[in-house]
Amino acid sequence: PGPFRLGIAGLGTVGTGVIRLLDEHADLLEARAGRRIEVVAVSARDRSRDRGIDLDRWTWCANPAELAGLAGLDAVVEVVGGTDGPALDLAQAALKAGRPVVTANKAMIAAHGFALAETAEANGAAILFEAAVCAGTPILQTLREGMVGNRVDRIEGILNGTSNYILSAMERSGEDFAETLGEAQRLGYAEADPALDVDGGDAAHKLAILAALAFGLRPDFAGVEVEGIRDIRAADILQAERLGYSIRLVAMADLERQEGAPARLLQRVRPCLLPADHPLADIDGPTNAVLAQGDYAGPILIQGAGAGSESTASAIVADIVALARGEARPAFAVPSAGLVPAERADSGAR
Ligand code: NDP
Ligand code: HSE
Repeated sequence: PGPFRLGIAGLGTVGTGVIRLLDEHADLLEARAGRRIEVVAVSARDRSRDRGIDLDRWTWCANPAELAGLAGLDAVVEVVGGTDGPALDLAQAALKAGRPVVTANKAMIAAHGFALAETAEANGAAILFEAAVCAGTPILQTLREGMVGNRVDRIEGILNGTSNYILSAMERSGEDFAETLGEAQRLGYAEADPALDVDGGDAAHKLAILAALAFGLRPDFAGVEVEGIRDIRAADILQAERLGYSIRLVAMADLERQEGAPARLLQRVRPCLLPADHPLADIDGPTNAVLAQGDYAGPILIQGAGAGSESTASAIVADIVALARGEARPAFAVPSAGLVPAERADSGAR
């Protein structure tokens, strides 16, 4: 087959990482995908910004949505970000045109992922978003494929690299919250709006996606109870340590199956005191980890980098290679037989 031709919207932390990886591993990827993967068009806000890459190699699109209709593309990579706006416009237009979309945008997938998946299916396209949860740590693939034979009723994890980086740094050296957040931003871990990181919204986006995949439901972001780490002080961490605990921002989803009644879904993101022997207690820095409880596999713990240019590029490229190989994967599992779409649990039920 001829080359697999990409348009990339967004040339920030993630977009430039994807371009570096595709350049550096071009031969390796060609061998693994069975065809050359080529970038042919790109889009960002400011063409004059220095990104350390030569933009003259590609067609420039001033508006990301132009990539949806550009002739000759095999897929579009959306790494602009944002729940709505240019990211959603691009994804919708591309899928309607039958063009597959790869995205790292958990905010968009948590809010619109199911509808986008339906648009993809109706138009013979696909939407892939491994990078949206835990960056390059392949948790979605693990749930969709590795644990496909299991009933999973509980998931818990550390899903935001920035807040875990902040809590770990405060724990290690009693560093100041604001200073550590600045460092996470410099390292490319934080969202364009870092309130999403420290107030728990980003972890909630990811939890809604994980719960949907694990339990066979539509993502229900509005149903996540959210509390972030903004009010945690170094003194709280010290006190927790004295008592033998560490403080982590934990995301938890439980599906309570009830005989003869709709299942109830409980989703929470909140700072938790974890005892030293808890598998998430010593997850450090920008690392993410997810503990999924399978009825046959037992507890599966998967952990790795949860943010950053390189790790996120790794997941995006995994999705690109899957498309180039012609491996279509459904975005969300079909709801399991007999499982009524979950009702939200009453808050305070636990
Ligand atoms: P950045 O802010 O670094 O990059 C965003 C890019 O989008 C920039 O190139 C920017 O252009 C471009 N852009 C923004 N608005 C527009 C617009 N209106 N029109 C055209 N281009 C626009 O973000 P990241 O790379 O960090 O994140 C991108 C996505 O990946 C987000 O959805 C994020 O949540 C997700 N993600 C990020 C991870 C990370 O570790 N950073 C990890 C996993 C997912 P310009 O450069 O000209 O300003
Ligand atoms: N801002 C996000 C985080 C990026 O810190 O986890 C990865 O999704």
